[in-house]
Amino acid sequence: MNIAIVGTSYVGLVSGTCFAESGNEVICVDIDRARIEQLKAGQIPIYEPGLEELVRRNTKEGRLQFTIDHKQAVSQSMVSFIAVGTPMSPTGSADLTNVFKAAEQVAGAAIGYHVIAIKSTVPVGTNDRVRAAIAPLANHRIDLCSCPEFLKEGSAIEDFMRPDRVIIGSASEQATAILRELHSPFVRTDNPILIMDPRSAELAKYACNAMLALRISFINEIANLCDVVGAEINDVRRGLGTDRRIGSHFLFPGVGYGGSCFPKDVQALIHTARENHLDFALLEAAETVNMRQKRVLADRVKAHFGGDLKGRTFAVWGLAFKPRTDDMREAPSIVAIEELLAAGAQVRVHDPEALGNARRIFGDRVSYHQINYEALTGADALLIMTEWNEFRHPNFQRVRATLKNPVIFDGRNLYDPALMKALDFRYYSIGRRPV
Ligand SMILES: NC(=O)c1ccc[n+]([C@@H]2O[C@H](COP(=O)([O-])OP(=O)(O)OC[C@H]3O[C@@H](n4cnc5c(N)ncnc54)[C@H](O)[C@@H]3O)[C@@H](O)[C@H]2O)c1
Repeated sequence: MNIAIVGTSYVGLVSGTCFAESGNEVICVDIDRARIEQLKAGQIPIYEPGLEELVRRNTKEGRLQFTIDHKQAVSQSMVSFIAVGTPMSPTGSADLTNVFKAAEQVAGAAIGYHVIAIKSTVPVGTNDRVRAAIAPLANHRIDLCSCPEFLKEGSAIEDFMRPDRVIIGSASEQATAILRELHSPFVRTDNPILIMDPRSAELAKYACNAMLALRISFINEIANLCDVVGAEINDVRRGLGTDRRIGSHFLFPGVGYGGSCFPKDVQALIHTARENHLDFALLEAAETVNMRQKRVLADRVKAHFGGDLKGRTFAVWGLAFKPRTDDMREAPSIVAIEELLAAGAQVRVHDPEALGNARRIFGDRVSYHQINYEALTGADALLIMTEWNEFRHPNFQRVRATLKNPVIFDGRNLYDPALMKALDFRYYSIGRRPV
């Protein structure tokens, strides 16, 4: 099948590449000329494990192309997936400017029957509004569907190739059949393709992210309680997660959720509820807890060293909002670093993949280090903000020798408190009983 993908970032580039990998001819279009030039030159503008090799192979074999010309992409395709950004607007609602613009560009360029599937995360009712907006522009029948994306950065290819389920929100039998056919190579182990109306599909995506955000805020609150009552979060977590009614996923305490999805999707769902005169108190609380949790490490630093951090230097390992991505959108590291800088400290940062994005945020206000140990030089303490695998077993002797003070604030519970004590570190983590 010939497919156009509109928006060529974490969702669009991964989806397009995976559709090409299953034999389709895919053309990805983006308004960002530099991004398209990079892709044409074989460079990948984002970090996602395994993506580079797949893009290279499918490009070389002629199934994957890139363009800035919507007409070129759409006129040679029967299906267009819209995978543009839906960032948070100042009111908390999802900003749909890109989605409407992209849909209009596709509708105006279609030269026959066309399916537009919205992969971007959009509030309930968006399909109806977009359908009305593009109706005057289309010269041919267009079926507009919702096809929300559930991939996770860091394991996006695996998630796309082996999804727990595919959701198709469609009112057209023909479009449903086409989308079902396109996704069939990815559900060969009988994971379901769920067909529903577009409104339910739109809401299912938000419900999913909201539920996960709730779980994270819940376990963070339990961890904070552990800290004050002297319980051990890992034991509590196991007691909780082994209950089959609950399960163990997304029950790891830390420094709060970030990324390009949970924060904005939680806000957008609260906003949708408010627009419909409902008070989604549970989600509001999850969001409040999360904002507080993002500050927890910086608060502990201040409690240890005193509020005035002038003359202090801190090393930060991990900047991306989670491991295996370079994405720093809404990352807890930003909150922690801004707090340290505001209190007068100097900050030395390291991340295996996100230094480029970090530079765009902090400029010359922090120093950047390719090697994790180099960030420690002259630092009063180490803060760990992202659970990259390479931080799990560092050379502790070297860490101790390089830091000015042997103090670690671990926002991801990577180390064993007993080992830290034996190595003579002052070790702070989240919700664990001090040794
Ligand atoms: N990132 C994730 O992990 C993830 C997972 C599931 C769903 N989503 C949702 O998918 C959508 C896309 O997310 P992302 O992180 O890939 O987005 P992004 O913000 O990183 O990138 C969007 C891309 O779309 C391009 N674009 C904007 N308007 C365009 C237009 N009219 N024509 C062509 N290109 C255009 C931009 O230049 C950019 O390259 C969002 O709604 C997001 O909530 C994201």
